[in-house]
Amino acid sequence: PTPTPPPSFAVSFAAVAANQNDAVTVPAGYTVDVLLKAGDSVEAGAPYYGSFPATPAIAEKWAGGNHDGMEYFAFPGVDANNRGLLAINHELPDFNILMAGTYNAASATADQKALALSAVGISVVEISKGSDGKWAVQAGSTFNRRYTGNSSYLVGGPAASAIASPIKGMLNNCASGRTPWGTYLTCEETTDNYLDPSQPANGYGWVIEIDPQRELAQPTKRTAMGRFDHENVAYLENGDRRLAFYMGDDATPGCIYKFVPDRAYSATNRAANTDLLDSGTLYVARFNGDGTGEWRALVVGQNGLTAGASDPGNVSQSTTPPAPTIVNFNNQADVLLNCKSAARVAGGTVMDRPEWLTVAPDNKAVYCTLTNNSGRRVVDPANPRVTNLHGHIIKFREEGDSPLATKFSWEIFLTAGDPSLSAGGSNLVGNINGDTFSSPDGIRIDPQGRMWVQTDHSVPGNSGVAGRTIDQTFGHNAMFYVDQVSKQSKRFLVGPLGCEITGLAYTPDLKTFFVNIQHPTGNWPVAGQQPRSSTVVVRRTDAQPVGN
Ligand code: FEO
Ligand code: CA
Ligand code: CA
Ligand code: CA
Repeated sequence: PTPTPPPSFAVSFAAVAANQNDAVTVPAGYTVDVLLKAGDSVEAGAPYYGSFPATPAIAEKWAGGNHDGMEYFAFPGVDANNRGLLAINHELPDFNILMAGTYNAASATADQKALALSAVGISVVEISKGSDGKWAVQAGSTFNRRYTGNSSYLVGGPAASAIASPIKGMLNNCASGRTPWGTYLTCEETTDNYLDPSQPANGYGWVIEIDPQRELAQPTKRTAMGRFDHENVAYLENGDRRLAFYMGDDATPGCIYKFVPDRAYSATNRAANTDLLDSGTLYVARFNGDGTGEWRALVVGQNGLTAGASDPGNVSQSTTPPAPTIVNFNNQADVLLNCKSAARVAGGTVMDRPEWLTVAPDNKAVYCTLTNNSGRRVVDPANPRVTNLHGHIIKFREEGDSPLATKFSWEIFLTAGDPSLSAGGSNLVGNINGDTFSSPDGIRIDPQGRMWVQTDHSVPGNSGVAGRTIDQTFGHNAMFYVDQVSKQSKRFLVGPLGCEITGLAYTPDLKTFFVNIQHPTGNWPVAGQQPRSSTVVVRRTDAQPVGN
């Protein structure tokens, strides 16, 4: 008989110590190289070379700032382990390479607005591995393309009729996802265009579908997936090619959602999937106290979504319940545009800032990082800590492992923190088994079942104990391996000064990992120049799969 694989996914690397070095630290036997810095050329043009000024026309061709979620795509006729397309989110501008002083949207000139908006959105770059094993962007590739805050986007789905199309710009491109048909899903973590408030309301806060190969539709905001502070998208599929796309609303508080398209996708005809994300049912998660959960449909006329509905508001942040507000849901566009409110009306559980979700390829479990919520005052079983400074990770499993399920079971996978913080109260300690961390944010389980967790403790920025900074306790933000079964945590990579670690992509053979270093503040990656957000490549010197 075939031997049963071990229940645990051991990793061989020696854990990296927590540190506050102004460098990227990886384990012995690993290398790290910088691939794409903010201000590097994506489309042909002059890159940032270490000083001002930039013009909007030049900066539109550069990699934007604050690299965040990303995905690696194969394209036909090439060996994807050595060549492919990398789509990278730019959450915010790296203002320090764009303009002197601070940016003020209210008083910004048209050129300053265009400059700021040039540095958000996404980059698509063709990359390949050289004979020395190092990866590089292929300058001049026709695949290289920027999509920015100044570009135009189509609008699809039930709220399209309520929005003037095309929309100018996408921004706060935080985390991301992909579809089985090879398109990129980039997520706006803002519901307004705060870099240019003159732009129309309702145009922001969406998931945008972009085909890096540029064969399918023009970039389109998919309104059926709801408008809120989107973090990422992760999908679960069944044997009939039906899908659920899981999404978090990174807000205080915010809910967890899933979108179930009405029909199966085609595995053989990419074009047949062009509008698949425009028709389907959006659900919000309700976590019951007995470990069960339910998905409540956000459909006008159901679950209280009618004219004159009563939104209970932010019930988690004060022991004095806020006064409910009356919201009118007259049609499905109202539900999608006011999705946060609809979720609360329908009974969704308000969570401690849902950031990334990931679906385990080996067992179909779904995990969501709940990064922190220092303002929580009213607890519930799924969010059990008042003043949740360090966050937790929740795990749920669909009934029958089906993306179409309306019920699930759940447990708290781990609570973050560190035993050395016990002086500040047991609330800050958590139950991590191994290398401790605060504020889990990025999470991704690779195709071999290894869970990778990335941290962003920039906010709250304090440890909860007087005289102890958060960096003194945990070191700089970092990336960890966390075993799905034993829950053992091992620190894999530590970032330079001031950064958060976010975004993870890999080649199919897992020999190359791509990781983003967001908003460094020291002297990295180019000594003597402004710090710049960057994508780095992590490999093993013996060319084996990362983490194996
Ligand atoms: Fe952009 Fe919620 O992180
Ligand atoms: Ca960020
Ligand atoms: Ca994040
Ligand atoms: Ca975060």
